[in-house]
Amino acid sequence: MKKSLFSALIFLVLAGVKDASACSMLGLTGVPGFSSPSYSSPGHPSNNPHNLDCYYRINAQSSSNVIAVTFSQFNLEKHSRCNFDYLAIYEGPSTSSRLIGKYCGTNSTFTVKGRGSQMYMHYHTDSTVPSSGFRFRFTIRASTTPSCDQLSIGGGPGTGSISSPNYPQNYPDNADCRYRINAGSATRNITLTFTAFNLEANSDCRYDYVEVRTGFKGNWAQTARKYCGSTVPATQVITGQQYVYIQFFTDGSVTRSGFNLQWTVSGAGDCDQLNLGGAPGSNGVILSPNYPREYPKNIDCKYRVQSSCSSNYINFRFNAFNIEAHSQCRWDYLEVFNSCGTTSGSIGKFCGTTLPGPLTRRSSCMSMRFKTDGSVARTGYNMTYTVSGSCYPSYGIIQSPGYPMDYHNNAQNNYVIQPPNANTIRLRFTTFILEGSEPICRYDSVTIKRWSESGTQLDKFCGTKTPFTRTYSASRLVLMFKTDGSVVRKGFMCTYSKIN
Ligand SMILES: *[C@@H]1O[C@H](CO)[C@@H](O)[C@H](O)[C@H]1NC(C)=O
Ligand SMILES: *[C@@H]1O[C@H](CO)[C@@H](O)[C@H](O)[C@H]1NC(C)=O
Ligand SMILES: *[C@@H]1O[C@H](CO)[C@@H](O)[C@H](O)[C@H]1NC(C)=O
Repeated sequence: MKKSLFSALIFLVLAGVKDASACSMLGLTGVPGFSSPSYSSPGHPSNNPHNLDCYYRINAQSSSNVIAVTFSQFNLEKHSRCNFDYLAIYEGPSTSSRLIGKYCGTNSTFTVKGRGSQMYMHYHTDSTVPSSGFRFRFTIRASTTPSCDQLSIGGGPGTGSISSPNYPQNYPDNADCRYRINAGSATRNITLTFTAFNLEANSDCRYDYVEVRTGFKGNWAQTARKYCGSTVPATQVITGQQYVYIQFFTDGSVTRSGFNLQWTVSGAGDCDQLNLGGAPGSNGVILSPNYPREYPKNIDCKYRVQSSCSSNYINFRFNAFNIEAHSQCRWDYLEVFNSCGTTSGSIGKFCGTTLPGPLTRRSSCMSMRFKTDGSVARTGYNMTYTVSGSCYPSYGIIQSPGYPMDYHNNAQNNYVIQPPNANTIRLRFTTFILEGSEPICRYDSVTIKRWSESGTQLDKFCGTKTPFTRTYSASRLVLMFKTDGSVVRKGFMCTYSKIN
């Protein structure tokens, strides 16, 4: 079919799809080569109405297309974080898609490009300060450059480099490269050092640029940093983020040699669980990170199970086991120790698919170290620890398994509290930050039961609480910590004692 003929078949359904807001345009469509007419926000060029929420969806019908929206006029109430009136633009079909940017203030013409089959825009105005809004048109073209994405860089501590396509030769026009560096845990630092940088210069970096964002999808945020020109950006240390998302965009003219970037991920992961165990009867489950999905590469997790007394017993029982095999477990392994640390008392190094036999030691402390390399990942392990014996402390501290780091998904830890000869037990929570809200505590919770895990429920706690104390007339309690498969928080710290 001829292109002109094809273009003639394109139709635009304006407000053809019903939406709560009459100002929305959800049926804007086109195919490569299409250039739309201009559309205006309500009221434009006069002042916009207040309290608007207008949505615009552009459908380019194929994920290999590029949608470019060009604003010829743009005037929205200015605010440093665009909190009042704004236009938010998403790469995808809805507001849960990747946020390309949030725009406000006054600008001369600018273009926003998105890749894929759809683009979604949300125009919001509040109840004060009117402005004239915007006018835009869009074009659609097929992506012409081969994909230069690298979305699974890293995974844990390590270092590497990223460079622009063809580096040190000139980069191509119309490049759109996305790089995602995974630190494996938000407790690590991600350091970015540009060792070479030469991009087309522009005071607003409108043409060619490198933008550093954070988060898995690289949603726009105030912390995003855009670089262009020939000044080598200063080294940046990103903390508190598991992912860094870097984009390299170039326009249709002027190319330079591009960039080379060294990345380093350093620091400990939050896979450590050093506060496991408790008085006899305490037990819990340890799952490899991501279990039953593949464990991350380059991780180093430590676990410590304590039994309160050297006369008590600790038992490890494996329910499932699958770690990359090697005759000497050189690549990935789980090592078990009859000691509190991971340097002495090794009981064995395990890998492959054979379940390590039940391991029981008369011990006050056993630990494990799970270490993986940068290649081949398996499903890992599901194991249970149990403390038994007859030595019960009269007071103690119970902390969520990773405390003071965030706790983990799918946690299941039961702590027995049985001070000898107690008939009244006091619990004092000095820190308490869990997902969810009381009284349901559907996601993560601390449950207090009388006597055993199947005993009468006395309390169930979740959410964020200021320090609090509870007193129970009981000789034995079980504190049950349970978390679901998403959202982790700092956890809890609790001290217990008898008060009779
Ligand atoms: C709008 O203009 C300002 C000032 O010139 C600039 O810093 C900003 O990046 C522009 N925004 C867009 C979306 O182009
Ligand atoms: C991470 O970066 C912060 C701030 O630069 C620094 O204080 C901290 O020691 C770093 N941690 C690691 C593990 O490198
Ligand atoms: C771990 O193993 C136990 C015992 O076989 C099982 O009940 C539990 O569902 C397993 N956990 C997961 C997350 O698969």
